[in-house]
Amino acid sequence: MARPASFTCTSCGAAHKKWAGRCDACGAWNSVVEEAPLATGPAGRSVGAARGRKVDLSDLAADEAPPPRTLSGMAELDRVLGGGLVPASAVLVGGDPGIGKSTLLLQAVARFARAGLSCIYVSGEEAGAQVRMRAQRLGLADAPVRLANETALRDILTTLDAERPDLVVIDSVQTMWADTVDSAPGSVAQVRAAAHELVSFAKRRGSSVVLVGHVTKEGQIAGPRVVEHMVDSVLYFEGERGHQFRILRSVKNRFGPADEIGVFEMSDAGLKEVANPSALFLGERGEPAPGSVVFAGIEGTRPLLTEIQALVAQSALGTPRRTVVGLDGARLSTILAVLEARCGIPFAGLDVFLNVAGGLRVSEPAADLAVAAALLSAREDAALPADTVIFGEISLSGALRPVGQTENRLKEARKLGFSRAIAPMRSKTGADDSMSVRQFPDLTRFVGEIFGAG
Ligand code: TYD
Ligand code: MG
Repeated sequence: MARPASFTCTSCGAAHKKWAGRCDACGAWNSVVEEAPLATGPAGRSVGAARGRKVDLSDLAADEAPPPRTLSGMAELDRVLGGGLVPASAVLVGGDPGIGKSTLLLQAVARFARAGLSCIYVSGEEAGAQVRMRAQRLGLADAPVRLANETALRDILTTLDAERPDLVVIDSVQTMWADTVDSAPGSVAQVRAAAHELVSFAKRRGSSVVLVGHVTKEGQIAGPRVVEHMVDSVLYFEGERGHQFRILRSVKNRFGPADEIGVFEMSDAGLKEVANPSALFLGERGEPAPGSVVFAGIEGTRPLLTEIQALVAQSALGTPRRTVVGLDGARLSTILAVLEARCGIPFAGLDVFLNVAGGLRVSEPAADLAVAAALLSAREDAALPADTVIFGEISLSGALRPVGQTENRLKEARKLGFSRAIAPMRSKTGADDSMSVRQFPDLTRFVGEIFGAG
């Protein structure tokens, strides 16, 4: 019988047979830690040997009503949750330390409390006075939220079992300490045990549980990754330090679409919802400049226009620089290779910098054509007309592929005052012709007609 793996990566949760300095699953350094093996029966016999209870089986056609949901009134949050908070659901909110998780959840819990839910906020990180001060600063001091400052999981569960709140926020799961587990708070075993107990509580009592989890690059503290499969929804709160925008993104949701985003703006009075993010992300744009193009993207169910900026400069280095912020670096390499191999436009000897304005992350393949346009515009030092949006996927052959939700992209662009679009051939542009859409079958044709190059 194979011995159970007893080492786990605190960053990605991968199991290892032996200790390693670097996790070969996620590449994190110094993140593999030893873990006590799960208890098995006598002499390691599996539970299959003992007889269990026969479970009830049902069929798929059962007439199930959709779960009743509670709206917080913060539209950006409610949408990311899939249309409000579902009772008995377990939600993980992950993010870098200092990104604003506690602020967001205090605001959310106050809203839910005002909407009639009984709410408890358990802080294992900040003293009650600190949380109250923050509530005062955010103008939430009168919200009927009850606070606890505690890290002992056993006491917290006893309290929750007695109080039976509709919603409980645990800030953060890394500070929780289960006395049944023989390792330090923040270790994989502790985080897993705490998450398991709290999620079981949610299912048993019908309370919603929100777990806050820090993600650390160093992997010293167990990352929320080990918790992801236990919960119903996983939301990440992200943003660039130095930018005031914060994005709440659902990466998993059993009660709604994943990949939905909510956009917030940081202020002295806490996080403010951004109802029209396209206007915000384009707000900093000035005159048309070489290297700047507007990408008409879709985030979740919502169209979102963003500015993609490129800078191409003579390199002094043997291996020229490729620096990317907000986009996938491998995608940039692919697009550069296609431009070189299919259109004969070399980038050798040139440094390339690529950036999504405003600190947003774009992961749609539909951004390919906008990236190519930004690169060419920077290389040729030629600005595109300011009223143009671009989207389309580039295949390795250099062909342009139509992308989903073309009509929504065009509608959003029109709403924000754009009147021209560049898209792949066969894009479903809809009946409205107030927008002039130029369609290209491949990258070579696009490069030749728009930039007169290639
Ligand atoms: P905090 O919510 O404590 O971050 P996290 O819980 O993710 O570690 O926020 C970090 C700091 O930023 C805190 O000092 C408060 C400040 N802040 C604002 O002033 N305004 C805001 O809108 C937000 C989100 C944070
Ligand atoms: Mg916090």
